[in-house]
Amino acid sequence: MASVQDFIPQPYTGTAESGSFTWSAPSNIALVKYWGKKASQIPANPSISLTLNNCKTVTTLVFEKKEDNGAFSFDLLFEGQPKESFRPKTEKFFERIREYLPFLSQYHFSIDTSNTFPHSSGIASSASGMAALAVNLMSLERQLNPDMTQEHFDQKASFLARLGSGSACRSVKGNVVIWGEHAETPGSTNLYGVEYTPVADMFTTYQDTILLVDKGEKQVSSTLGHDLMHGHPFAERRFAQAHENLTAIKQALATGDVETFIKITESEALTLHAMMMTSNPYFILMKPNTLQIINKIWEFRAETGVPVCFTLDAGANVHVLYPEANKAEVLQFIANDLAVFCQNGQYIEDQVGSGAAVVA
Ligand code: DP6
Repeated sequence: MASVQDFIPQPYTGTAESGSFTWSAPSNIALVKYWGKKASQIPANPSISLTLNNCKTVTTLVFEKKEDNGAFSFDLLFEGQPKESFRPKTEKFFERIREYLPFLSQYHFSIDTSNTFPHSSGIASSASGMAALAVNLMSLERQLNPDMTQEHFDQKASFLARLGSGSACRSVKGNVVIWGEHAETPGSTNLYGVEYTPVADMFTTYQDTILLVDKGEKQVSSTLGHDLMHGHPFAERRFAQAHENLTAIKQALATGDVETFIKITESEALTLHAMMMTSNPYFILMKPNTLQIINKIWEFRAETGVPVCFTLDAGANVHVLYPEANKAEVLQFIANDLAVFCQNGQYIEDQVGSGAAVVA
């Protein structure tokens, strides 16, 4: 397993004057949730997620050598148009990763980003966005260090992405990723996400239809939310529970035990929101329609026996999870019974995917 030291590079042997890379990185949806962190983006508990396929950020990094005056220099674009509002976050990210990528101040960059999902959909773009930027920067580092192994590339890309946004470290690889030290998962670490294998075939093609219940800006940023786990009355028990749930859901994913998968996934979603409702200050991010949808899913599952379940992010949207084999009937159910609870009837069809990829 790599340590922080392993991510501080040796003097580079390669050169790179100017050029560009383009990568896509997907969003991911946590089954066991990351909620609570320590300094330097170290999670309070381990988490596990399904990497998505369609909800992606595509980022082009153009680089050109400049004089190294210690300062960062970059232009930011969103869908080809200048986007100054991304500057503080990017500046902060570069500052955090400077010691691991000492070449950052030796280049002028242009970073052009676009998302495949609607901008104000309430879908977190920080995970896919930070992951896409991290793999691009790793491509440049690989050019400077041609001997880099694929394993190092993947681990360090995830390590860097984590410093941008915790959950982003789970967006580099697919199909199922574990992030955070877990006694029962050899190779697991707080520093980067690792692919979990083997998983039963059904989970490699699992479907996630994201119901857009509330597309507004987040009421509570996840950074603030994580903070509220400090001194939270239930924090210690919650963190211990995440370890237990991870053990159980790993087993379910490996064996194709859908019943256990559903029980843990739904319980984790509700626990995440229970933590928000019992913090100080407290808040509720679910909307009435979120609850309507959850009840409809439970009714449908009881009536039909179709193994469909839900999970939630730190927001009102609902991720509907189900096997590909049930796709037709679940999409019918969503169109007939759930779309009415979505803003403008909108939802996004996604499924498990394999992580970041070079765009030709
Ligand atoms: C509820 O990764 O967005 O989606 O590390 O502060 O950027 P930062 O937080 P972020 O938190 C995600 C929280 C979550 C659960 C999860 O994805 O595990």
